[in-house]
Amino acid sequence: MPRGDRQDVGVPRRLDPQQTRDLAGVRAAFRAADYTADGVAELLGPVAGAALARNETVPARRACRASAHPAAGLVRLFLLQDTLTIHDVPMLPAAATRLGLIVRDGDEVRARLDVRPHDEDFWVVSDLGSGLDGRVHPVAADHVLGVGGASVSLAELTVRQPVATALDLGTGCGVQALHLSRHAQQVVATDLLPRALDLAAYGAALSGVDLDLRAGDMFAPVAGEQFDLIVSNPPFAIGAGSARTYRDGGLPADDLCRRLVGDAPAFLNPGGYCQLLANWVHRRGQDWRDRVGSWLPAGCDALVVQREVLDPAAYVSLWLHDSGEVAAPDYLQRYERWLEELAAQDAEAIGFGWITLRRVDAEAFHRVLDRPHPMEHPLGPHLAEEFARTAWLRAQQGDLRGARLRVAGDVTQESIGEPGAEDPTRLLLRRADGLRPVRAVDTATAALVGACDGTVPVGVLLNAVATLLETEPAALAAEVLPVLAELVTEGFLSP
Ligand SMILES: C[S@@+](CC[C@H](N)C(=O)[O-])C[C@H]1O[C@@H](n2cnc3c(N)ncnc32)[C@H](O)[C@@H]1O
Repeated sequence: MPRGDRQDVGVPRRLDPQQTRDLAGVRAAFRAADYTADGVAELLGPVAGAALARNETVPARRACRASAHPAAGLVRLFLLQDTLTIHDVPMLPAAATRLGLIVRDGDEVRARLDVRPHDEDFWVVSDLGSGLDGRVHPVAADHVLGVGGASVSLAELTVRQPVATALDLGTGCGVQALHLSRHAQQVVATDLLPRALDLAAYGAALSGVDLDLRAGDMFAPVAGEQFDLIVSNPPFAIGAGSARTYRDGGLPADDLCRRLVGDAPAFLNPGGYCQLLANWVHRRGQDWRDRVGSWLPAGCDALVVQREVLDPAAYVSLWLHDSGEVAAPDYLQRYERWLEELAAQDAEAIGFGWITLRRVDAEAFHRVLDRPHPMEHPLGPHLAEEFARTAWLRAQQGDLRGARLRVAGDVTQESIGEPGAEDPTRLLLRRADGLRPVRAVDTATAALVGACDGTVPVGVLLNAVATLLETEPAALAAEVLPVLAELVTEGFLSP
């Protein structure tokens, strides 16, 4: 079901020369005032910075008043949404009004868009958010979302290897595309909303980044093209139809994420990654792992990680707060309609998580995990290592006896048992890095892992452990080798 204007599909969105010049002027003004991520962090300090992240402006306003920092006026204008006089922001060129970044009424100025420094050297432009100091209002149907927790999660789990081509599908304010520009030679960024692309173009120009911005539904703007890396923070909310484009995919249940996953391989170069955030329905009577596992394409290694699960009421409430719809006059009806839609989907809960695919054109290896615990950040480098180990395992064709494996430096062993008991009832291996996996193992496997120092082949170690435990080596190998393969996948052991 294509959405959006077909005539728009794939058409590049460009700034006109005047806008480009104007944005260069604004960028110079931002730089001169040190309106950068570091500058703002220095000006606000940790307490006011954390309060502002909670939508509380008072500590930040006090910090701005008390500081001689040149960015104080810009912080109040763009981040606190204060109405100021033009004399409070003397560095801001007149072009800011022409570009629609601010509105000027006589001497008074206020922000029309949210323009904020991000990361090392980026500025991101989005619609003004709702909810500062509890002043909540429903955001518009075509609201262009700013950088949020989900954006940061995806940015942190992205595999950041140097690549020739990358695609950001559903770019919105363009934050993922900006990050991609640091390690991809060419970045295509698409969105269903042409307006989102206009704001992404503003952010790119302010950040001095060149993006190929194209309008259209899902993969339509890149038909026939292939990429080394695809990232997407799609509108994954389930059950609200297509009320808000940034949030709602407009397809039944979790079909948008399922379609994205199914279609992605055709747009990936061999070895290329596709990484996306997703929500999925936990249907009554069906294991969610089977459901999401059935989406995963042949020809791609895949890792699905569920990070959180919400019941239907908590889910609906989360999104209605997120969009400011709690302040809508028909909030109660919206809540009820949404719950009814989830009930019609037989949803007893909704899972939040992420999916990474890597095109391998070989017998693929799929894993679907429930991992609510804290993980190391950024996760991207660990995911790259995880997929590389999976490829190495495939090349061994199931026989690890000749391999010399080394136990990772972050692995510890935990013995669990009754107080005072001589033997533990359970042995756990834990990794402190990356996805921080935990594995229950038996004594033989633990002994074998302990002996893996990268010098002796696994087959030799297996025989030694079999002698020690007075077991048949072939039987021990049949039992332990599959476990070792899993331990390699999860990085407890490395070739
Ligand atoms: C959650 S926002 C993500 C914005 C940004 N990429 C980020 O990480 O913060 C989802 C974006 O997908 C866009 N979108 C919605 N439906 C789409 C579709 N069918 N095809 C392409 N983009 C779509 C929305 O307009 C919105 O900008």
